[in-house]
Amino acid sequence: MDRRKFVKQSCSLCVAAGAGMLMGSLASCGSVLPAYKTQVADNKISVPETLFTATDFQLIQPKGMYYNIGLKKEKDGTYTALLLRCTHADNQLTPAGNGFKCTLHGSSFDNEGHVTNGPAQRPLKKYPTQIESNQIIIQLS
Ligand code: FES
Repeated sequence: MDRRKFVKQSCSLCVAAGAGMLMGSLASCGSVLPAYKTQVADNKISVPETLFTATDFQLIQPKGMYYNIGLKKEKDGTYTALLLRCTHADNQLTPAGNGFKCTLHGSSFDNEGHVTNGPAQRPLKKYPTQIESNQIIIQLS
């Protein structure tokens, strides 16, 4: 193998290894999902249903609220809205697999908000939702 070919192949391997390490670190640092940013008006949040054409889960980041909301489209077309606030000591939760995890002390919750691993003992707060004119309305209470 000549020198030029060796250098070219070595660089390709370095780029591939670097990309793999980057993807691995992104996956391990919690959520890489983009959050949909929106406003709270009259104690309600409005989210367009079109966000769910290619996914059944969306992170919602309401302006003025410290915690995100996890919004999941159910198989029957209804939506489940969960406040991503750990019920152990109020840490922000991140989506993980088919649920949510807390990086502070290790609690985890399923996608219905039930505790699957402590020390948290209480389920996540669930908000009622309804559909109005192709908008998902999350009623904060
Ligand atoms: S704050 Fe989440 S496990 Fe303690």
